[in-house]
Amino acid sequence: MRSLVLPAAPLLLASGAFSFPGPAHLTPGIHFAPDHVGEAGGWHDIAGSMTHKGVHHIYMGTGWNHHLSSDLVNWEMGAPGPQALEETYAGMYSNTDPCSGFLTKDPDDNNRVCAGFRQCGSDQGVSGMNPWDVPMEMRCALDDDLSSWATLDTSPAIDYLFNVSWYRSIPYDPARPWWDPIDNQHYLLMYTSPALRGPKMDWKYVGDVFTSNSTVLQDGFLSKEFVTIDFLGSFDNDPDPSKRTLVMLNNVGGNGGGDGCCSGTTSYFALNQEGPGEPFTETGGGQDMVDWGSFTPKADSTAVGLDRLDGTASRGFSMARTLGSEEPNQVFAPGRRVLIGWTGPDDADVFQGVGSAQSLPRELDLASDKSLTQRFVPELQTLREKHQSTSDASPEMDVGGLQAEVYAVFPETCGATADCSLSLLSDGKAATTITLNSDIGLVTVDATSQGNTAVRAGPMPPPKEDGGGYAIHAIVDRSILEIIVNNRTAFVVYAAPDETATGVAGTGVSKVDVWALKDAQNVI
Ligand SMILES: *[C@@H]1O[C@H](CO)[C@@H](O)[C@H](O)[C@H]1NC(C)=O
Ligand SMILES: *[C@@H]1O[C@H](CO)[C@@H](O)[C@H](O)[C@H]1NC(C)=O
Ligand SMILES: *[C@@H]1O[C@H](CO)[C@@H](O)[C@H](O)[C@H]1NC(C)=O
Repeated sequence: MRSLVLPAAPLLLASGAFSFPGPAHLTPGIHFAPDHVGEAGGWHDIAGSMTHKGVHHIYMGTGWNHHLSSDLVNWEMGAPGPQALEETYAGMYSNTDPCSGFLTKDPDDNNRVCAGFRQCGSDQGVSGMNPWDVPMEMRCALDDDLSSWATLDTSPAIDYLFNVSWYRSIPYDPARPWWDPIDNQHYLLMYTSPALRGPKMDWKYVGDVFTSNSTVLQDGFLSKEFVTIDFLGSFDNDPDPSKRTLVMLNNVGGNGGGDGCCSGTTSYFALNQEGPGEPFTETGGGQDMVDWGSFTPKADSTAVGLDRLDGTASRGFSMARTLGSEEPNQVFAPGRRVLIGWTGPDDADVFQGVGSAQSLPRELDLASDKSLTQRFVPELQTLREKHQSTSDASPEMDVGGLQAEVYAVFPETCGATADCSLSLLSDGKAATTITLNSDIGLVTVDATSQGNTAVRAGPMPPPKEDGGGYAIHAIVDRSILEIIVNNRTAFVVYAAPDETATGVAGTGVSKVDVWALKDAQNVI
């Protein structure tokens, strides 16, 4: 997505508002939030992501700012990715920042890492057409550290793949291309070519990526293009690998294209593709959400589940992309699918529209019904410090700080005959409280006593398949909470706790484990 949607930060910084680093007790220490993300408004898409020679690379807007890590926990800044260049091409004149796109590797050039994107706009489009008529462009890294990138004068130089008019039916911000092992061709936005770039490329249009205007809410619909899409496949637990199950990520309502849903939050469709270049068909249960931070329970509604939700609140998590595997083909080759997105901007009273961050990495897989499952990557466990555990049904524990990992298990009777809730960042007066309401089919996250502007809610997931009821897994990082219920219903929520809000409490708990967490060794 691009900057038109969100007003620039200075307009939002009312006097007295803090931005990161802000008050120390609210500044996240596990989430990576360098100034260009934490203190700036505008777009903070994951513009591209790739694991290369053991290093995880994230490029995060505005522009291709480079974050890197060798362990998915501790991050630092790297040399910037592709930058604005004066370019002329077939009548186009442009000198703007590359928009979000993808990173891939070119198998015909020793797995060189290449970035693909289009210009966010141009002064003049291809053949004197509209400013959004620009070529799909690829610029490759000149080294394995991704410290310098192709320009017009380098070898390799910039490649122009095919011309696209991005208005409006073509997805905004291209998905990472893939290679299909059945016909040995590359696919990108449903163009196909025997080579990714260079003299052997020959991109030809083969069809649409996928067409749908539906959203997860019955009364919400898509009125413009998909935004910042991606395709993932070959999941370890794909229940039916012969059907080529794929997941298409889309950020519903980004660029204002979602009526009644979903504030630009990352969503997905489970799809099948029978053969190379064939149309995608829906499988699984229709559109679903990777994150529910932008959903709120409707006032006065007595409906159950999704029908009780409004999807237009400020978003928690969006514009996500994956890495984790050296293998660039994340569609038809197996490998880790680790999702990283943009958290925020915060809409609580504290950071007032800034305070964005790079999300914690989540490992993705498929459930037996082709829903996406999520869990925090195990690498995050290296931040664990003091551990406490209890089977007290109404625990009260003191973490000793505002950073904690909490894994709380509840019985299957939650919401039916038992009240089940977990309070984080509790100081006895205020807290952020997660409640499992199976009677109304919703999980709610209430941080309104700590500055959040609305109660957030998502669907109650099915009970765990092993008969273990429900599990709330949360990582609290001062003002940013990431919560995953039964590996399905996830939320990013912002809160502004007092410094003394170090408690964890619960109702109807079967067992809870709590770890104090230390800061990551992020270098900003
Ligand atoms: C894009 O369109 C221009 C003008 O029609 C044409 O000259 C050029 O070859 C096209 N380039 C590609 C990569 O399709
Ligand atoms: C959604 O698409 C369907 C099928 O093309 C169409 O019949 C329907 O009117 C569309 N709905 C909206 C709200 O645009
Ligand atoms: C669900 O999450 C837990 C805790 O993060 C993890 O141990 C488990 O492997 C996950 N299960 C699935 C199916 O992803």
